[in-house]
Amino acid sequence: MNPTRQTVLSGLRPTGRVHLGNYFGAIRNWADLQDKYDCYYFIADWHALTSDYADTSRIEQATFDAVADLIAAGLDPKRCTIFLQSAVKEHAELHLLLSMVTPLPWLERVPTFKDQQAQIEDKDLNTYGFLGYPLLQTADIIIYRASYVPVGEDQASHLELSREIVRRFNNFYGDVFPEPLPLHTTAPKVPGLDGRKMSKSYGNTIGLTSSADEIRAQVLTMFTDPNRVRRKDPGNPDICNLFQFHKLFSDDATIARVDHECRTAKIGCVDDKKLLAEIMIEKLRPMREARERIDADPTIVWDVLRDGNRKAHDRAAETMELVRKAMKIGFAGLR
Ligand code: TRP
Repeated sequence: MNPTRQTVLSGLRPTGRVHLGNYFGAIRNWADLQDKYDCYYFIADWHALTSDYADTSRIEQATFDAVADLIAAGLDPKRCTIFLQSAVKEHAELHLLLSMVTPLPWLERVPTFKDQQAQIEDKDLNTYGFLGYPLLQTADIIIYRASYVPVGEDQASHLELSREIVRRFNNFYGDVFPEPLPLHTTAPKVPGLDGRKMSKSYGNTIGLTSSADEIRAQVLTMFTDPNRVRRKDPGNPDICNLFQFHKLFSDDATIARVDHECRTAKIGCVDDKKLLAEIMIEKLRPMREARERIDADPTIVWDVLRDGNRKAHDRAAETMELVRKAMKIGFAGLR
């Protein structure tokens, strides 16, 4: 890797196949950053355990699906490092060391801690690991001495905590870590099929690499202007969920035409859905085909991970030498 470039790191919990919300919200930006920074992207399978510890049966398949989709979406293993968190044990060592210097109230006041506990009722999230979620995330980031972390607004409080911990660590042991900054890039809002934010937990997603038939079926279930009851009623694209997708996928001429024909009831919602589905199928074709090639030869994923895990490990091991030395722990250099 080019040592003059700054490091970018981001992670994704393994929730399965990448959906359009993930793509437009994050992954597309990750791909854009590959040539400007030394990028590390990883699947946070240990983070999956913070909430799914009682049933781990889906984590491995979800990890495979995520990696395969990331590659299909344009992350190029030759230009960035794609790896698996649990394969780089140094994250766990750093997490442990950080846990020694982290005051409990810092973790307890992270808003996602209480919010998630309140929202997720079917799992007991009153665990040590769940409280430590943002601390493990901090270890993930700073072990690569990352300068920037492309994340959504929802992760802002986690990154704020990471910076506070870095300051505390550096204050005790000397300057080892840079303070990681969020890298907010403009991302369009991607609604789900029902108009709420697209999210796995709402069950309203469209997969980035779904088959043509899946896309057709899913688009047919999309919410449209709720006031347009009959075919001859004029519609209002401004409040139509389907129209939001035209803005993401269709060219300007099509958007203008649909806007006009919806308002004048020339096009019905079902026809519009059929039109949109075909446009999406065509736009997503390269990624779908890339995913099909990977499914036909899954060793692609294993090779990418093996290679990425090794590169990530090299960097993480280097940082841990600095950390042990700074903390005067374990007789640095003895091993
Ligand atoms: N918490 C992130 C999410 O839910 C995933 C994640 C884990 C992460 N470790 C990270 C993101 C480190 C950025 C950096 O999306």
